[in-house]
This record gives sequence, C-alpha cells and structure tokens, in this order.
Amino acid sequence: MAELDLRELLAARAGSTLDSHARSINPQFVRLLRTIGFDRSWSRAEGAYFFDSQGERYLDMLGGFGMFNVGRNNPRVRAVLEQALELDLPGRVQLGVTTLPAILAERLLALAPPSVGKVLFTSSGTEAVESAIKLGRAATGRARVVTADHAFHGLTLGSLSATSAGEFSSRFQPLLPGFTRVPWGDLDAVERELRSEDVALVMLEPIQGKGLNLPPAGYLEGVQALCRRYGTLFCVDEVQTGFGRTGKMFALEHWGLEPDLIPIAKSLSGGYVPSGALLLSDRVFDAVFDSLENALAHGSTFAPGDLAMAAGLATLHELEQQQLVAHSAALGAELLARTQPLVDRFDVVKAVRGLGLMWAIEFGEPESGRLAWQLVEKAQRGLFSQLVVVPLFQEHRVMTQVAGHNVNVIKVLPPLVFSADDLDWFVGALEETLEGAQRLGRSAVGFALKMAKAGAAAQLRR
Ligand SMILES: Cc1ncc(COP(=O)(O)O)c(C=O)c1O
Repeated sequence: MAELDLRELLAARAGSTLDSHARSINPQFVRLLRTIGFDRSWSRAEGAYFFDSQGERYLDMLGGFGMFNVGRNNPRVRAVLEQALELDLPGRVQLGVTTLPAILAERLLALAPPSVGKVLFTSSGTEAVESAIKLGRAATGRARVVTADHAFHGLTLGSLSATSAGEFSSRFQPLLPGFTRVPWGDLDAVERELRSEDVALVMLEPIQGKGLNLPPAGYLEGVQALCRRYGTLFCVDEVQTGFGRTGKMFALEHWGLEPDLIPIAKSLSGGYVPSGALLLSDRVFDAVFDSLENALAHGSTFAPGDLAMAAGLATLHELEQQQLVAHSAALGAELLARTQPLVDRFDVVKAVRGLGLMWAIEFGEPESGRLAWQLVEKAQRGLFSQLVVVPLFQEHRVMTQVAGHNVNVIKVLPPLVFSADDLDWFVGALEETLEGAQRLGRSAVGFALKMAKAGAAAQLRR
C-alpha cells in the first residue's frame, strides 16, 4: 500500500499555491494578495520568521493575529505533540472523560483570578465568546448583553452581535437581539444600561484590538464594580491579550480584575491545534449545569481534544520555562521607548501606544503635505496606513497590519520570542518607511489610489 508523502505532495505543487488556492478556496483573497504585492510563496516558518521559496527571511509582526506567542513551529511544543500521538490517547470518548483536559484546566485556573473555578473547552475564540453569551444568559435569566464601540469578539453570529457595527456585520443582518454597544471608556453609559437590571453580561476586551485602545484609568475596575452592583456578569475577553501578550499572563492582571467569564484562545495551543476555552465562575457553572439532566447543557464535538490539551500544556510550560511573559513586558517597554519619539519626529505620526508586545502607531493629517494626505484619505479613510504596511513588507520584509476599519492605526503582535535584533529590524524599517510615506510623493499617491480602486485597502484590515 502506497503511503501518502506530504513532502512529495508539496514539492509537486511548488510555485502553484496561489493559483490552486484561487481555484478552490478564495480567488478574491488571491487577487488582493497580488494587488498589494503580498503574493509570496511561503516555504517555512520558525519562531518570529517566515521564509519564502527564495529562502528570504521575513519578520512576522502579526504572530498569526496573536496565536504564535511561543513562536511558530516551536520545537518543544511539537515534541509534546509527538509524544501525544505516540500514546494513542483515548481522547473525546464523548460518554467518558480522560485525564489531559483536567490537568490543563487545573493549570489554567491556577493562572487565572480566583473568581473563576471551572473551564469549558472550545475549539476557537469565537466559540468561547458564544459560550460566554449563552451561559451568561442562562445563569442570570437575563437576555441583554452590553459591549463597547470598536469591540471585536469574533465573526460567528452571536460574537458578531457583540462586535462593533460596520464592515464586519452590515451584510449579515439581522444579528441577535438584545445587544447594546456603549462608548469605550464611558462608565456613565455602562451604568445607564445596567440600571434596568436586565443585562446578563458586560463583555469587554481589556485592550481593544481594533485600533488598539487602552482603557482609561479606572474604567475596567469601574465596570466590574457596576456589574457587581446591578447583578450583571463581567466578561473580559482575553482571546487576543492572553498568554503573555501584554506583559502579564492575562491582561486583566494589570488592573487586578476578577471577572465571572474569561474567553481565551489563540496562543492557548501554541498555534498548532485549534483550541479555546471559557473560564467561568462556579456560580455561573452551577446555575447552568445544575442537574443530571443538564450535565451536558453545552459543548462541542472536538473540544477538548487530546492534541489541543497536550499543546496547551506544552505552551504553558514553554511560556514559563522561557520566561516569555517577562520578556514581553521588557521588550514591549523597549519598543515603546524607541518608537515614542516618532511622534515628534514625523508630522504624520499622532500617537504610539502599547502594553507588552501589543503595540500600535496612529497616523493623522500632517501640517505639511496636507493636500496629498487629503487626496489619499478622501479615496478611502485609513488608506495612509497601507502606504506604510505595503513598503514595510515589500522593501523590508516585515509583516504588519492595519488595525481595523476607518482607523489609521498599524498594530503589531509579534511572537513573544521576538528578540532585541528583531526590534532593531522593525524600528529601522519603520523609520525608513515613514520617511518615504510622509513625503507622499506622486508614486505613493498613485499606488494608494490604485489600491482603493481595487478595493484592496478595505480587505487588508481583517
Ligand atoms: C478579542 C477577540 N475575541 C474573539 C476573537 C475570535 O477568535 P477566533 O478568531 O479564534 O474565533 C478574536 C479574534 O481575533 C479576538 O481578537
């Protein structure tokens, strides 16, 4: 019997990946990649780098949107996965339980605040958010959910209802009823909603990923206090901010928060296996799983899979052994210190902000070169950022992204294995790119208008 040889399979397709993808998966995405010159043939990834088919090395400042905190293809996580495969584990018995999920649940709870006492595993971030909404409603007997403007909680219909209105949701109406969004940072607005005592949960990202908005002082603690006062559950979505991203294991530690619900995912499995979880209070758990009849009130077929659990345990071990959380705090502080002066140096840079290795730069209308800026921004709001993202990639081999729709913000989430040399690479490339972009010469304006026409700018923001 012939064995399937992955190496051979890949070698036979070398050079035709984009065409194959276009034929059977997503031709629009391939068109977009070609328009903006991101149409590389990728051959390999390691740590904070990708390598293309020419052997060129690229710096991954996206970290797979935050799922590669321990680095791409981490060899020690892989070794644990190999062990798990060799063990022929009995996982997902369905009418039975196995050991690995409980071990990972214990480890997660030991890292989380004492307000949560149970773990419900899922296979993705959005599924963890959906679980928070569903269980929160059942536990409180209330229907309403309050979230913040500019929020991002995922793209399935429940999470999308919690996600800020606009490009992500406008074509997918009607969404779930009972969702209200309030301005980020406005405690009075939260209290106005909670007073009616019909809100099941308030769900917030501790730092908003879209636009990278840090919470104003006292905001998150204030929302938690209001939730307690009005019998509402407090849900802190750590899907992107968890596992050392912000210089703490969970971002909520910066403010000493003790939420009732904490969705996590992304880096939980080191990027190897789809995995997520909802950490929930015993009170919520007991209210939903309240009888033998309701022992399986919520769940999904794949979660918790043994490979996901093994990868999760290996990831936590790696974060601890390599002290990646402290590294994220230290390198993040250095990144901020090195880039903060860009605000004074470049007219077009309005702000630089971040926490740990979650960092962003915001652009605004410059005093000089105002007309070119207006032309570009008139074609499409937020287009200037693309004039930085594209050359950063094409000329400096640094992958970044625009942080949301209608914002001129570039965000980075590098793997936490990011080194001091990588920091030099990124900062040097950014400075050089800004010099060129700020001038907004004819060719840059022409390129921006071409991108806007092709609709590429809008799609690059995902
Ligand atoms: C804060 C937050 N919540 C939820 C999600 C959804 O996670 P997933 O893409 O795994 O469904 C994301 C994804 O970016 C996120 O950033």
